[in-house]
Amino acid sequence: MSDFSPSQFLSHCSTDALSDAAKVLKNGGLVAFPTETVYGLGADATNFAAVSRIYEVKGRPSDHPLIVHISSLDGLGVWAREIPEYAIALARDFWPGPMTLVLLRSELAKDFITGGQDTVGVRVPAHALALGLLHEFAKLGGLGIAAPSANRFGQISPTTAKAVTEEIGEHLSSQDLILDGGPALVGVESTIIDCTGASPRILRPGAITDEMIFESTGIALSDSGDAIRAPGSLESHYSPRAKVVLNAIPELGEGYIAPATIVTPAGVIRLASPSTNEEFARDLYSALRSGDALGLSTIVVVAPEGEGLAIAIRDRLTRAANEPI
Ligand code: TXA
Ligand code: MG
Repeated sequence: MSDFSPSQFLSHCSTDALSDAAKVLKNGGLVAFPTETVYGLGADATNFAAVSRIYEVKGRPSDHPLIVHISSLDGLGVWAREIPEYAIALARDFWPGPMTLVLLRSELAKDFITGGQDTVGVRVPAHALALGLLHEFAKLGGLGIAAPSANRFGQISPTTAKAVTEEIGEHLSSQDLILDGGPALVGVESTIIDCTGASPRILRPGAITDEMIFESTGIALSDSGDAIRAPGSLESHYSPRAKVVLNAIPELGEGYIAPATIVTPAGVIRLASPSTNEEFARDLYSALRSGDALGLSTIVVVAPEGEGLAIAIRDRLTRAANEPI
């Protein structure tokens, strides 16, 4: 998993800054922090008042469950019970990394984390600052950091600290913090895998693909149904202000995101030209944001074809456009 390996951004934040941030969490404050996928808005996952502030700042309905971030597989049993063997295999292979496991909850995972469901989502992020924060928080007795993406409800997840400030800065209070770890390397949210059945089931596609899951577990994935709620799968989500139109020819003055091999028609504003799916995922949200910053009314996106990460990119694009492709 060298693509997501934690190491790059430690220089942006001293250990002192991380221990101060851990204290903020311990005192019930909020800390926005980088992960390899997108930036998260963190709170002490055992503190009801702190977690309630996440919902206020995001403007998010309170029955939407949150992911608990932990520093290693060792902490999984604190938050989950009856963990199947295939989930342990996944955790060993892909943590730290862009993967969230949904498991039956322990008593510690209260309704204010799980949205009242009997399951909890848990993830070990692969980012030096996130892991550093989790370690400092553990030193203070912290057991996990609840963190949704650090955007207002329904908007695009932030992939830079600047985007976090633009999204939620005005809703944070003076005790809260935003840690800057540079741009997120993966760029789309973690793969969410329901591990409560006999076989794993993908609830949200991401950088950990179905092939990787099959290779790790040796078990065929079960088809998605909707027995479990994953509100990130609301139809309209991940939306910029501009109208997103998929796989069309852009007109004069419109924004354009397309693979590098496609040329920009005259009078069209090119926002990104990714050469690979990895680059597409990494640059997509910042490109959509830059379209909004330019005040564009329409952004045309040519969706990548194929399997793997392309599935996650098409999933987010479909929701941004709120239309099937
Ligand atoms: O990459 C990520 O996962 C980022 C970073 C910050 O870790 N986090 C993230 O969180 O995307 P959020 O809250 O924006 O999206 C998490 C999704 C939501 O759609 C939520 O409904 C789903 O995970 N989820 C969380 N716990 C769940 C559970 N117990 N059962 C089903 N879905 C769950
Ligand atoms: Mg989100």
